[in-house]
Amino acid sequence: MSQWNFLFSSIIITFLYFNLNLFLTNSETIVKNLEYPCKPPYNSYPFCDTSLPITTRAQSIISHLTLPEKIQQLCNNASGIPRLGIPAYEWWSESLHGIATNGPGITFNGTIQAATSFPQVIVTASAFNRTLAMYNVGQAGLTFWAPNINIFRDPRWGRGQETPGEDPMVASAFAVDFVRGFQREKASGGGGNVKRVVRKRSLSDGDDDGNEGLMLSACCKHMIAYDLELWNNFARYNFNAVVTAQDMQDTYQPPFQSCIQQGKASCLMCSYNAVNGIPACADKELLQKARNDWGFEGYITSDCDAVATIFEYQNYTKSPEDAVAIALKSGTDINCGTYMLFNTKSAIEQGKVQEMDIDKALLNLFLVQLRLGLFNGDPTKGPYGKLGPKDVCSTEHKTLALEAARQGIVLLKNRNKFLPFNKDSISSIAVIGPLANNTSKMGGGYTGTNLNFPKSIFEGLQAYVKNVNYAPGCLAVSCESTSGFEEAISIAKDADIVVIVAGLDLSQETEDHDRYSLLLPGFQSKLITTIAAISKKPLVLVITGGGPIDLSMANGDERIASILWIGYPGEAGGNALAEIIFGDYNPGGRLPLTWYPEAFTSVPMNDMNMRADPSRDYPGRTYRFYTGKVVYGFGYGLSFTNYTYKLLNAPKQLTLSGSISPESKRKIQLQIGEGYQLDYINLDEVESCNSLKFNVQVSVMNEGEMDGSHVIMLYSRVTNEHAGAPRKQLIGFDRVQTTSYRGTESSFLVDPCNHFSFANEHGKRILPLGDHALVLEDQEHIVSIQI
Ligand SMILES: *[C@@H]1O[C@H](CO)[C@@H](O)[C@H](O)[C@H]1NC(C)=O
Ligand SMILES: *[C@@H]1O[C@H](CO)[C@@H](O)[C@H](O)[C@H]1NC(C)=O
Ligand SMILES: *[C@@H]1O[C@H](CO)[C@@H](O)[C@H](O)[C@H]1NC(C)=O
Ligand SMILES: *[C@@H]1O[C@H](CO)[C@@H](O)[C@H](O)[C@H]1NC(C)=O
Ligand SMILES: *[C@@H]1O[C@H](CO)[C@@H](O)[C@H](O)[C@H]1NC(C)=O
Ligand SMILES: *[C@@H]1O[C@H](CO)[C@@H](O)[C@H](O)[C@H]1NC(C)=O
Ligand SMILES: *[C@@H]1O[C@H](CO)[C@@H](O)[C@H](O)[C@H]1NC(C)=O
Repeated sequence: MSQWNFLFSSIIITFLYFNLNLFLTNSETIVKNLEYPCKPPYNSYPFCDTSLPITTRAQSIISHLTLPEKIQQLCNNASGIPRLGIPAYEWWSESLHGIATNGPGITFNGTIQAATSFPQVIVTASAFNRTLAMYNVGQAGLTFWAPNINIFRDPRWGRGQETPGEDPMVASAFAVDFVRGFQREKASGGGGNVKRVVRKRSLSDGDDDGNEGLMLSACCKHMIAYDLELWNNFARYNFNAVVTAQDMQDTYQPPFQSCIQQGKASCLMCSYNAVNGIPACADKELLQKARNDWGFEGYITSDCDAVATIFEYQNYTKSPEDAVAIALKSGTDINCGTYMLFNTKSAIEQGKVQEMDIDKALLNLFLVQLRLGLFNGDPTKGPYGKLGPKDVCSTEHKTLALEAARQGIVLLKNRNKFLPFNKDSISSIAVIGPLANNTSKMGGGYTGTNLNFPKSIFEGLQAYVKNVNYAPGCLAVSCESTSGFEEAISIAKDADIVVIVAGLDLSQETEDHDRYSLLLPGFQSKLITTIAAISKKPLVLVITGGGPIDLSMANGDERIASILWIGYPGEAGGNALAEIIFGDYNPGGRLPLTWYPEAFTSVPMNDMNMRADPSRDYPGRTYRFYTGKVVYGFGYGLSFTNYTYKLLNAPKQLTLSGSISPESKRKIQLQIGEGYQLDYINLDEVESCNSLKFNVQVSVMNEGEMDGSHVIMLYSRVTNEHAGAPRKQLIGFDRVQTTSYRGTESSFLVDPCNHFSFANEHGKRILPLGDHALVLEDQEHIVSIQI
């Protein structure tokens, strides 16, 4: 794994500890009424005995429950069982990029009033820095429903901002890092039946006590092919995603498979939508594949009321009881919401659900609670019992939020090296736009409460230049009127420099809300051209929002010198942007998704096909398959310096070892050229993929006057056209620190079985024989695979 130290990322090692919602004010003060399972006198049950295997303990809990008590566990707000000393438990907490207020498990009304707001995931992803880590602490449960790792398939998707973008390899890498950081699985002391990853903790307050278990539980969501909210007649609740076996195998599934196999996530969330006619939470084959093929050990929750939608929106069953039965029997363990609570009893009476179906779900649920240490007695004596308010919004977290914002900002245009500015040569700035002096939703969707730190863009600029004037220009992001233009013009006219903040906020893209257009909302473009016409110098345009915008107009307009994308940069976005504008940080972020032109909106959003189909004018999706024009491509991003690249060494030829029989060789037609055939081999027939792996050394030269941290991206491409092959695919990335006029080297481990293959139309991965290109920006190196 270490050679694949490429990359990026941002991992949210969110790490919070909340003792069943009662916060410990500090390590010395033990809250009097702290409720927890196994508190004396309820500590003599076998399930409290930490020396027993956790499966035995989980079965012990189940054996003590009555049927009505069992049913009360099948929802997110699981009831307490006072006669056993077990308090209620809220499974639903959210932490996509810091603690969010979206789940009922989280409150900000106690000792803790706020938490660090890190950049939205799409911004963190654009940093492509794997070691970028985040820590935070909040009032919450221990089970969090993050990360969101659905592929950002369509630029209109309202929740694309929550994801790491359009590439399955990036999403997989993000998922693995997020879950590992988040769960912090500890080494087994022996005896546990759950496999453990040995991982060193770096808590300042604790030594590893050898307890097995999870610090927190992370949840891979939403399984699967969920990436449409509400578009024309299609709503996420009734949508049937028609997905080919091919796209499932090499686009939709990989992030989930990685999240479970390598990340070892302890929760999966099934989505509202159906896939090829079967609602995800009722899809036994899908959910069991996770357990049986990927080794999933954890619980499966439905998205909120996604068991109800099986009947009510998907019309997949004839009654609520049938919906509960099929969900439970397929492997869904709890329904977020009350649907199972209210319909399980009658489902049992009707003989549709058996008590053993419930016991199976409860075993999964209690095993996770046990791994979290919930039944190990007084949590203040546990490994994280000393965490407290001092650990929330700490200096370290704030610094990290700032660092993440810096790294994620993407420079899209910079004509004639307009940026950076020298602050001493600028006496006044006009900053224009409805979001330029507003910090309320700088983190985008699933943001928490942040009282103490957020800096607006206006304030960020003020830290460099005293004389900053602000006018909203548009009253809201929707910009339905030009009535604020006058004021904006008046401050812009006299300023040395004009910065316009345009783009999207959650009124344009969010849960249950997809866009219909990729253009700037309302009169925003008009605001930009109006100001550009009167300003002394060309403009700096700052773009907010998670989804791509068709900026062709601004990109081609000479009066707009520089364009920066900040996404939803979180609490420190204003500072980070100002640091870049004034040259204290050399931008290095790169777009984790394709920016399409407005014409793309003629593609039906409900069409899940990734691959282009010229016979019906279908352009395909994402950089891997899209054949049309782009505004900015995947991986696009400038800096204040230029870089040149070299592929230093890599093999020219690889020979598949082992005895591959001639019969096992398959032929596929070349898309272009007649009568010409190429060999390929089914990946599962390749012996010893490990021996094919090789290292590629690369060098990147910083050709400019500024040091900078830079993302190296390595792609592969099949050089002959194979039907269904990606145009290219990302196989590695590494963010490296570079020095002015110096070269920096990096190396990538290439795994040809994984990196040179793709899925055929039966959903089987195939490895084309013959030439493959390694692509590093403008450099290519051919590796030939032979038998
Ligand atoms: C969970 O909350 C719902 C309302 O949101 C309520 O009807 C139900 O009784 C609660 N269940 C438990 C077990 O507290
Ligand atoms: C905080 O809010 C929760 C949920 O709204 C409520 O149950 C709780 O009593 C409140 N706590 C305080 C200290 O106000
Ligand atoms: C990646 O992120 C980490 C954590 O913020 C930072 O220390 C490191 O400098 C970053 N790497 C580069 C090359 O910018
Ligand atoms: C599902 O059933 C409801 C009534 O129960 C009906 O209104 C709706 O149109 C049906 N939807 C589909 C997709 O058949
Ligand atoms: C910016 O917003 C803050 C908070 O809403 C407000 O107090 C301040 O006056 C605004 N600044 C300007 C220049 O409008
Ligand atoms: C900030 O923006 C939000 C919407 O994003 C809006 O509700 C709020 O009124 C704005 N605040 C100010 C001070 O303009
Ligand atoms: C990068 O190179 C291009 C083409 O040679 C040149 O136009 C541009 O000014 C350079 N940019 C920087 C920041 O050096």
